[in-house]
Amino acid sequence: MLRSVILAASRSTRVERLVATAPFSRDVVRRFVAGARTDDALRVTRALVGDGLAVTLDNLGEDTVTPDQANAVRDEYLTLLRSLAEAGLTPAAEVSVKLSALGQAFDEHLAYDNVRAICTAADAAGTTVTLDMEDHTTTDSTLDVLVKLRKDFPSTGAVLQAYLRRTESDCRELASAGSRVRLCKGAYKEPESVAYQSPREVDKSYVRCLNILMSGDGFPMLATHDPRLIAIGEDRARWFDRGPDGFEFQMLYGIRPEEQARLVGEGYAVRTYVPYGDDWYGYLMRRLAERPANLAFFARAVASR
Ligand code: FDA
Repeated sequence: MLRSVILAASRSTRVERLVATAPFSRDVVRRFVAGARTDDALRVTRALVGDGLAVTLDNLGEDTVTPDQANAVRDEYLTLLRSLAEAGLTPAAEVSVKLSALGQAFDEHLAYDNVRAICTAADAAGTTVTLDMEDHTTTDSTLDVLVKLRKDFPSTGAVLQAYLRRTESDCRELASAGSRVRLCKGAYKEPESVAYQSPREVDKSYVRCLNILMSGDGFPMLATHDPRLIAIGEDRARWFDRGPDGFEFQMLYGIRPEEQARLVGEGYAVRTYVPYGDDWYGYLMRRLAERPANLAFFARAVASR
């Protein structure tokens, strides 16, 4: 119920205005978002890489409604990739891209041209791109774009969401040599017709998908903070003899940093997903919806003002 309310608020421009102008927002945002500028992204990336983590950077933005906005997002990624290479942070750092930020909602061709330009720049910088996955209405078109991109940029990664009923079959499809698949639970509000609704069903689906990916020929990226799923990932890594070159754990910036460090200490490859940019509202609301403790953190920041 609370999750639904917060996810509904994430689409409300009135609530967005309220939250964005509230004095407490800066502290809350800073915990989950690297900062507004490219330099902030580089600073945080440098620190994480220094701690033995790999990084994927997300330039926040999902409400792109004009070609100029879409092109500006593309240009920011091009600048970021150049800066990462100049700073010697590739290939440890790669980028994650939302097609909606590149124009997918109003012009699929434009979104494709933009993401292709980003893949070309990533290639030149010696690193990779992963396509984030958004709500289920975009899954087919995002996977179509993936197939086209992989012809020229075979290491382009995809995200599959365990809450979708179709995902087991998508995992089978993508568990092939050279493919990089990030498996997450899924962060959007989806109808029962397409998605499992109970946490237990989602977790069970995650394990089925994890088994398919870990026993397949691709490179699984297990994106979760869930201790039980991480333990199952560690178990399957032993079972299928996958070392740090064979798969990685992924977690979000600001969430369970001590667990990220523990896994690095155990010799696992761990990648932190680092969002940066001005357009943090939708991202922050999804994080708050996921976990009551994040809400408590939010409430404490409000109370301390
Ligand atoms: P969940 O939120 O169910 O938490 C399970 C358990 O983890 C909790 O009970 C607790 O024990 C522990 N935990 C969680 N948060 C904690 C915290 N703050 N402190 C301490 N313990 C905590 N989604 C999407 O739809 N499309 C996408 O492209 C992506 N991309 C993506 C990349 C990466 C790297 C990650 C990690 C996640 C995504 N997601 C995503 C988000 C994903 O779908 C999901 O919403 C969140 O990761 C939360 O799910 P968890 O698996 O962490 O479990």
